[in-house]
Amino acid sequence: MTHRKPLVAANWKMNGSQALLAEITALLASTNWSKIDVLLCPPATLLPGLAATGQCLIGAQNISQFSSGAYTGELSASLLMEAGAQYVLIGHSERRTLFGESDELLAAKMQAAIGHGLTPVFCIGENLQQRQQEKTEQVLAKQLAAVYAAHPEFIAKSVIAYEPVWAIGTGEAASPEQAQQAHASIRQQLATYDAKAAAAVRILYGGSVNGKNAAELFAQQDIDGGLVGGASLNAEEFFQICQSAK
Ligand code: G3P
Repeated sequence: MTHRKPLVAANWKMNGSQALLAEITALLASTNWSKIDVLLCPPATLLPGLAATGQCLIGAQNISQFSSGAYTGELSASLLMEAGAQYVLIGHSERRTLFGESDELLAAKMQAAIGHGLTPVFCIGENLQQRQQEKTEQVLAKQLAAVYAAHPEFIAKSVIAYEPVWAIGTGEAASPEQAQQAHASIRQQLATYDAKAAAAVRILYGGSVNGKNAAELFAQQDIDGGLVGGASLNAEEFFQICQSAK
């Protein structure tokens, strides 16, 4: 952890409930978080309820590339913001693989978010085969380059999340050394575009973060917090993960 303010984010994916929201926000209210930022990204239906608690930063999990119009089922930046969102996840591997979101589409979503003042949490990461073929750095560089080509200003306006696909939901987190190496390579790649923004951007680690491994991961020089999936559905464990970033 460094001079950058740590950020711990929860990605509930298609899980959670109003009851869980009430439980987590009550727990968050029990302590002072001035040293770190805590961000919850629940399903969109829970955003206004979260906003009403005033307990933490608020994020959506997806965004339309369009501003408005006949796009059934989509949610635009302005609708998300009206529901309370300040951040939005873009490029999660589940969106890339299960919903076929391409680099080009993700660049358009980044534009939609940044253009409206939402902060993207831009997710990148290699799959197992790519890691085994020692292509991790190449994959990360390509995913970053695709957004940079469309929006050179994105580094200063986003949070980056490194989520190795093989570590998501598997219980097998990257080791602190593996994660640090990837984060350093991401920061180096970003520095070739904009050294100042690269030094300041927060890079979160995601992939089987839990109450036991969070502290060691967050202690790495280029790891500025985490993006937590499964463990964020347990209020006490998520609270503990947040505490370990302080
Ligand atoms: O976005 C968070 C994520 O994909 C990691 O999920 O369950 O491995 O913490 P999990």
